[in-house]
Amino acid sequence: MTALALALRELAARPWQAVVLAEPVPLDALPTPALVLDEGAFERNLERMQVFLAAHGKGMRPHAKTHKCPVIAHRQLAAGAVGICVAKVSEAAAMIGAGVDRVLVTSPVVDAARAGLLAELSRRSTALDVVVDSARGLELLAAAVRPDDRLGVLVDVDVAMGRTGAREADTIVGLAAGASAAPGLVYRGIQHYAGQVMHLDGRDVRRERSLALWARVAEIVERLRAQGLEPPVVTGAGTGTYDIDCEVACLTDLQVGSFVFMDQQYRVIGGAAGPEFADFEVALSVLTTAISQPRSGLVTVDGGYKAFAADAGAPVILGAPLGANDRCEYRFAGDEHGVLLPRGDTLPALGERVRFVVPHCDPTVNLYDWYWVCRDGMAREIWPITARGCSW
Ligand SMILES: Cc1ncc(COP(=O)(O)O)c(C=O)c1O
Repeated sequence: MTALALALRELAARPWQAVVLAEPVPLDALPTPALVLDEGAFERNLERMQVFLAAHGKGMRPHAKTHKCPVIAHRQLAAGAVGICVAKVSEAAAMIGAGVDRVLVTSPVVDAARAGLLAELSRRSTALDVVVDSARGLELLAAAVRPDDRLGVLVDVDVAMGRTGAREADTIVGLAAGASAAPGLVYRGIQHYAGQVMHLDGRDVRRERSLALWARVAEIVERLRAQGLEPPVVTGAGTGTYDIDCEVACLTDLQVGSFVFMDQQYRVIGGAAGPEFADFEVALSVLTTAISQPRSGLVTVDGGYKAFAADAGAPVILGAPLGANDRCEYRFAGDEHGVLLPRGDTLPALGERVRFVVPHCDPTVNLYDWYWVCRDGMAREIWPITARGCSW
């Protein structure tokens, strides 16, 4: 059996653990399309965020919806994270099943089946929290737990996004009071996430918008405090505002997700130092192969809609400086293919590998079963995307 076949057998047996390849595989020998993680860049991103937030007196609560990988979650906790976030109950089950502790579910639950599963999962972990934004959700959670359970509850606060969260101050206070009073539930605090601000062009624009929203959250914190419901945890924020929201006094920890990988959508938002948001390195890429040339002036690679999430534009060749107009241009050409059109660059020859920065990391990751983890240009480990498809 080849080293690769052995590794895949090992992965199938324990799809939550890293598999070390018996022999490193050169990237050019990987079957494509392949999701490649540069371990060095990933580790530097993680350390940079942790050190930055700690220096500002804030905790890091990374969002695992980005990576869906228990190996990465364990590394984030080992790096000093106060906990991890997941978007959905099924992701929480995958993470807790892999021994990941201190999980916060950041979407509300309004059905008995999921509330029951959360109650059960809370008995298998030292700390499991979930957000709530309705009386119905709170009632279902209270009905699902036993009096001696300790399922944590945070009230999700919506200031302006209009996606999830309670907006009225009376509702927020009522939910916090209800969570405090319910046997088996523990009131842990509030969440506020402003996804509409994360990708705004220009740091100054993001700063003004984000701090204005947090000022409203601070008023809600005051209101809760006045009612004897001061939130021990105020969690929120994301990669696009991490260095802005760390100024917010009431915020205790940041739910940063994409920074571990970076994607094209984030590279272009502009940073403190210029038009590129370059605080974090591009650690994630998709490797493809040039497989066909139906006519001159065009080459087809073996990655299309099944290799890249297409909600944020086209993939960009890895290594191209922002705005560079001298690389080949990628256009989606169906589920399995993309075509490269020349600009200044010459087209790749058949069989040549082409690596891309992904347009949007989270939904791209959800298209793959594992990361090829590389160091020094060689794939050395496979890390499973255990929570792939866990969208409920
Ligand atoms: C509730 C919540 N928190 C945090 C994040 C992480 O955001 P980012 O990937 O921009 O860091 C997201 C992403 O959508 C989110 O929905």
